[in-house]
Amino acid sequence: MTYTIANAEQELQAKREMLNLRWYPRYHLAARAGWVNDPNGLIWFDGWYHAFYQHHPYSPQWGAMHWGHARSKDLLHWEHLPVALAPEGPEDKDGCFSGSAVVDGDTLALIYTGHKFHGDAGNDENLYQVQCLATSRDGIHFKREGIIIDTPPDLHHFRDPKVWREGDSWYMVVGARVGDTGQIRLYRSADLRQWQDEGILDEAQAGMGFMWECPDFFTLNGKRVLMFSPQGIAAQGFENRNLFQSGYLVGDWQPGEPFVRAGEFAEMDHGHDFYAPQSFLTPDGRRIVIGWLNMWESPMPEQQDGWSGMLSLPRELSLTEDNRLQMRPAKEVEALRQAWFPWPVSTLKNQQTLMADKGEAMEVVLHWDCANSDAEQYGLSLGQGLRVYVDTQMQRLVLERRYPQYGLCGTRSVPLVPGVPLVLRMFIDSSSVEVFVNDGEACLSSRIYPDADRRELSLFAWHGTATLSDAGAWQLE
Ligand code: FRU
Repeated sequence: MTYTIANAEQELQAKREMLNLRWYPRYHLAARAGWVNDPNGLIWFDGWYHAFYQHHPYSPQWGAMHWGHARSKDLLHWEHLPVALAPEGPEDKDGCFSGSAVVDGDTLALIYTGHKFHGDAGNDENLYQVQCLATSRDGIHFKREGIIIDTPPDLHHFRDPKVWREGDSWYMVVGARVGDTGQIRLYRSADLRQWQDEGILDEAQAGMGFMWECPDFFTLNGKRVLMFSPQGIAAQGFENRNLFQSGYLVGDWQPGEPFVRAGEFAEMDHGHDFYAPQSFLTPDGRRIVIGWLNMWESPMPEQQDGWSGMLSLPRELSLTEDNRLQMRPAKEVEALRQAWFPWPVSTLKNQQTLMADKGEAMEVVLHWDCANSDAEQYGLSLGQGLRVYVDTQMQRLVLERRYPQYGLCGTRSVPLVPGVPLVLRMFIDSSSVEVFVNDGEACLSSRIYPDADRRELSLFAWHGTATLSDAGAWQLE
């Protein structure tokens, strides 16, 4: 197979007609057809937000990575653009892996990983990952400029460059694996083409992972946040339950100085499906993050429909005084709101009450008065497959999904503070739910696969009473 942008476009046009759209997102970004993983190159350029993403146009499975491309004025309504990068060169013949974008004068520059095997692709010893550059004036057509950083000696896994400007220099962080230790490497450049090795920015101690993917490094609230996606952290109790994590370390850093951590690694989303997040700045200075709403090796039932993978809602990041990263839906999301359906504010007692026939493109808002609720379990259900509820005995907010027919059953949860009011904003799309807890305190994102005729939303309270102080749902556009 010869991979070119023209071939990819032809394939996508043909495949698009054949999709089953039952689970296709109504207000999230997914590909026209085929496979999506990480968001890449998120940037504001020339009056548009651009989102690129890891993309396999030829099937809904992961394969030779291309960069898909879409642009938007508001981070919600996306216009698909031609595939931006296909693995056409010797430097990226086995895939254009994840990376980032920067604006350099009037040029949009993509910095990505060329993925290639020299010999048998089954053997990591033959793997070479190099950092590459592609540039564009119109933000649509890209000129491939080849390798800008070759694989360092003895490294094989060396990928996902994130570039930013600081002072008079460009900086780049790259994820790496040395033996069984995940690392972040740092580079510096004056022109995006010649890069100096600035050494190891940070690396895993025992138990912190064998590979750190998709690093990102930015300032929030006077601190430095190192966000990345480690592979190989073992699950412990309620933490790190997914195959791979995404999370952050907070610390201090200045150009030329070491990164000094001020705390432990923490996950940023406690749902089943959030990985490889990347951040970018809006023109008005907000730091927004978007992640991949799937998890490696998890069943993806939409593959039978001809597509797979979607990106999360845009979320604004902030850092608390005690160094916790918070995520709230970006304010743009409010523009999706259409009619508001107030739900009767009431006390539920040992009952389940139908609130809406079809939860599909909706934002549900629930204010639970936990101090006046003693039910053992109370919350919201969607069809028979999803429940988001307070477990009073455990004092946790639980997201439970139950789709045994697709091999997807299980819970994720976050702790609650007893008696404190609980405010939830829940964004439901055709096959996803994103739960924002207490204005940024926690977030749980998971994929869901309801049958088309089983999307009813109900409130319930079992073994006791539960009191709502405010509730309702926005129909989203
Ligand atoms: C993360 C990742 C990246 C890599 C890309 C390949 O999900 O494994 O490290 O660049 O996906 O598609």
